[in-house]
Parts: sequence; C-alpha cells; structure tokens
Amino acid sequence: MASEWCIGIIGGSGLYNIDGLEDAQWIAIDTPWGEPSDEILCGRIGKVKLRFLPRHGRGHPISPTELNGRANIDALKRAGCTDILALSAVGSLREEIEPGRFAVVEQFIDRTFNRPSTFFTSGFVTHVSMADPTCPRLSTMMAKAISAAKGKVAVGATYLAMEGPQFSTRAESRMYRQWGADIIGMTALPEAKLAREAELPYALVGMVTDYDCWREGEAVGVAEVVAQMQANGKLAREAVRRFVEALPGKREPSPIDTALDDAVITAPDEHD
Ligand code: ADE
Repeated sequence: MASEWCIGIIGGSGLYNIDGLEDAQWIAIDTPWGEPSDEILCGRIGKVKLRFLPRHGRGHPISPTELNGRANIDALKRAGCTDILALSAVGSLREEIEPGRFAVVEQFIDRTFNRPSTFFTSGFVTHVSMADPTCPRLSTMMAKAISAAKGKVAVGATYLAMEGPQFSTRAESRMYRQWGADIIGMTALPEAKLAREAELPYALVGMVTDYDCWREGEAVGVAEVVAQMQANGKLAREAVRRFVEALPGKREPSPIDTALDDAVITAPDEHD
C-alpha cells in the first residue's frame, strides 16, 4: 500500500545541514546499540519528512572506524525513516570520475575489518541478500537531481570501503582499480549492509574530492580533500533539495521493505 515518504539523509564530510528544512528540530534518539553519531535533525520540505544525521557528528569528531553504524541506522529507523539517502566524500579510482563529480553507487567491495557489521547476533542467524545493495529507485531519482542541480554525475559506480584512517598505498590503489572499483571511501560500509538488515532502501552518492594515489606522482592530501569537500557540499545541498521536491506524492512499496522475509535461518520454535 502506498504511504508517506520519510527520508533519512546521512551527511558525509562537507554536508552538515539541509537547505530549506521547515520545522527543524534536533532530537536525541536512544538505541540498544549505543549512541548514534549525533542528534537527528527532524523537519520537512513541503510534505516530505526528513531526518538528517551528520555521519561524523557536528564538528566531525568521529573517525570512520569509530562510527557506530548500528546505532545510526537503528536511530533513523526509530525516527520513522522509510528510505535512506547517504552521501559520502570519496576518492576516485578512474580518470573520468574527476574531483567535483558525484558518483551514484551500485555495488560495494568491503575491505573494512574492524567494525560491528550486523544486527543479528546471539543465536539469531540471518543472511540477508546483498546482491543488489543499493536501491535503484532512489539512485535514479538522485542521479536526476544531481544533473538538475547542474552537477556532473556518474552512475553505476562500485565503491570500495577501506578501514582507514590512513589513505591507501599506491599498490592497494592500483589493485582496487584492477578489482573493478571506481571510487574509494572509509564510511559507507557496514552502513549499507545494516540499512539492508533494517529493511531500509539505501542509496549512496560518492562526492569525489581527489584522485586516489594510483596516478603516478600524486598522493592524497587532506588540504586538497577539504577544499573540494566545501565545493561539493554546496552541490549536495542543492541536489538533496531537488531530490526531495521531485519525489512522487506517495511512496509505493519497495521489495527492500521485506528483505528479511527469506533471510532468517534460525528455526522460529527455538526462539520462543
Ligand atoms: N575519502 C576521500 N578521499 C578518499 C580517498 N582517496 N581514500 C579513502 N577515503 C577517501
């Protein structure tokens, strides 16, 4: 049955607020998984409810490894989100995806190793499909919104998530290119996996700040990343506003709303 949209926006480095948010209020949300990165900024644009979470917290105090992905996703679910649009600063592994371009992600490669990455522990075994990890409906709408905001967009990108906090070595960067990765970042996993376990359709836009170090003689520097991040933040705010304004009046169900229906392996009678 069609319902109202409530869009969770996870803001990455460079995106710290939402333009045009009405009735905006920061609200603290408790979760059994601990504290989310920050309070959630709740409001609306027109009839669409929005819930904004700055991924690294206001003032950017939380490093990628320390992010509490479970608390962040659970808090957005408890705040009523039906869908998540995430944005994240990334490096590029492709000549044609230059700094300033936004890459809409279709696939992931996971190289993180130091982060809790599932809600299902303690005898409740669940294997949810991650074959198609992002939501095509949200991704298509966001690609159009970026173009409408006069941004340059790449679609169908593969995002490699690394642990960090150090940037990659040149050998790693070149290997990731051979693996087929297009962009690289430190934050969108396990976030995307947890969103799927929470049955929340998830789209990710990589805001490109730099060419990673695969290019001869180049290395990634924070000054370059931060300068590009600021320009990217302006485009991101404009694209998000256009994305929300272009949403259809009602939300039709997504197959991801019931992703867990055939994912649980533990026998139900062992769980009463
Ligand atoms: N975030 C922004 N640029 C990055 C890069 N080159 N590697 C990993 N994370 C990034």
